[in-house]
Order: sequence, then structure tokens, then C-alpha cells
Amino acid sequence: DTDSYLFTFKGYNFEPSLIDIDHLENLDDFEIRDDDVFIVTYPKSGTIWTQQIISSIYFEDHRNKNSHEDTLARVPFLEYNIRKVDFSKRPSPRLFATHLPYYIMPRGLKNKKAKVIYIYRNPKDVLVSFFHFSQFVTLLEVSDTLEKFMERFLDGRVVGSLWFDHVRGWYEHRHNFNILFMMYEDMKKDLRGSVLKICNFLEKKLSDEAVDAVVNLATFQNMKSDPQANYRKILKDEIGTRKDGLFLRKGTIGDWKNHLTVEQNERFDKVFQKKMKNVSLKFIWD
Ligand code: PPS
Repeated sequence: DTDSYLFTFKGYNFEPSLIDIDHLENLDDFEIRDDDVFIVTYPKSGTIWTQQIISSIYFEDHRNKNSHEDTLARVPFLEYNIRKVDFSKRPSPRLFATHLPYYIMPRGLKNKKAKVIYIYRNPKDVLVSFFHFSQFVTLLEVSDTLEKFMERFLDGRVVGSLWFDHVRGWYEHRHNFNILFMMYEDMKKDLRGSVLKICNFLEKKLSDEAVDAVVNLATFQNMKSDPQANYRKILKDEIGTRKDGLFLRKGTIGDWKNHLTVEQNERFDKVFQKKMKNVSLKFIWD
């Protein structure tokens, strides 16, 4: 049953076995430093990709493939602190990834000093990616058909709750944060331009060679074949899988066309139009 796969806190669904309730309850007071950076995403929207990008922007040893720490250590999840790191002891600048909705983020972010990079992706591809991910990650509920998963997704009965609430919430409250919105599809179409945009926002001036290195490390092919970048070991040992699978599956735009029927697509469009009214973010569907 769905409930055992979800833990709801402040109206938002978490993966129950990876969280620590005390940590969640203290998040509001979590001390923010001016040079903290947060990657914020709804699941399956480009998190691991952006973790790789910002870690290699900040750390020369990552860029040169000499890092003694893996990417998840460099850019840990704020809410899923699976390695029980004392974040208050991390050296600055601290980089984090999170799937949290805007209203559960630490209060200190509202002074608009620390930076937030919000990555969003067209939700039909998010749905398809999430469906596949749920098939092999032990902690997520399997749906035997995309049809069934889509019902749960459109009801928000998944980890991350409702996609529409996440994107809309962050977008409508953007003025309370120092935030850059990036679209997965733009990153895919122009990776170098996207890396430069991120560097600019982070006020990091890299040489052309360093930018090239970041871009190279962040291509789908390189990430998929690089065990450090694809989290193969983390998935197996720290998260747990029922069968083989990777965070990097296809990495394309428009895979939903291979999965959604005409009727499912129409139903999705209807919900999208209703829920995203007046949200002027752009979307690329194929
Ligand atoms: S998670 O579980 O929320 O952290 O997943 P997340 O990392 O957000 O999303 C996984 C999807 O992102 C794709 N991905 C990439 N696409 C293009 N280029 C690169 N470098 C890249 N890295 C990850 C990954 O393949 C998943 O999408 P799908 O459509 O399933 O392939």
C-alpha cells in the first residue's frame, strides 16, 4: 500500500527510511551561510547532473578527476542526510541538493544571500523517468504500469508530492530567494551555455579550459560510464535496488512520446493547463 512508502511532513511526501525526523523538524532553524549553494529540484529533473556540474565548478580536484570525495559528499542532500554528516562542520562553501518545496527550506535563505539553483524539466519526461526509477529502487513503490503510476503522480502520492505544487510554489515565491531557474531541456540543448550561466550566477570565473573540463564531465555519456558520476555504488550500497538500474537512464528530451498513449497525454495536458495557469515558465516538450 502507498502509505508505507511515504512519510508526510508539513504536507510534503518524503521517503520514510532515509529521513531523520529531528533533522526535518530543525530545518527551519538550520543555519545558512552567505556562500551556501542549493540545487533544488523535483525528483528526476536533473539533480545528479547539476550536482556533477557545480561540484566540478567549485572543486579543482573534481575537475581534474583527483577528488578524494565522491560527488554526493561534495553536494549532499539537505533532507536525506544518509551519511549523517554534521553540516555545521562542513567547510565553506557548502553545496547542497534538495527536493524540498520552498516552504520547508531553512528560514535563513530568505535573506537572499545564499544561492538557489532551481532545475525543472518537462513533467511528462519527469513522469517517465520516475516510473522507471521506481521499478528498481527498493525504497520506492513499484507500479506495474505507467497508467497506474501516472494516477499516483497526478495525485501527488509519490515522494516529492505533486510536481505542479513544487514548480509553481518555487516560481511564485521566487522573489523571496536569490534564485536562478534553469530548464533541463536548455541544459541538454546547450550544455556549455548552461554551465556558463551557472558560473555567472555563482560568481565563479573559470578559464576556458576549466569550463571545457566541467562540460566534458557533465555529458550524459561521460556521466553514465563514470562510476563516480553515475552513483552506481551509492545506489547499490546506500540506497538499495531490486534489480539493475542507474540514475542515468536515457537522458533525452521527449521520451514521454514513447510511453504515453494519446488519451493519457490529453489527460496530462488538461491537468497541466489547469494547474500551471499564470506560471510563465517556458517548457520544451520535444
Ligand atoms: S533524482 O533521483 O531525483 O536525484 O534524479 P535526477 O538526477 O533528478 O534525474 C535523473 C534524470 O536525469 C537524467 N540525467 C541526465 N540527462 C542528461 N545529461 C546528463 N548528464 C544527465 N545526468 C542525469 C537521467 O538520465 C534521468 O532521466 P531519464 O529520463 O530517466 O534518463
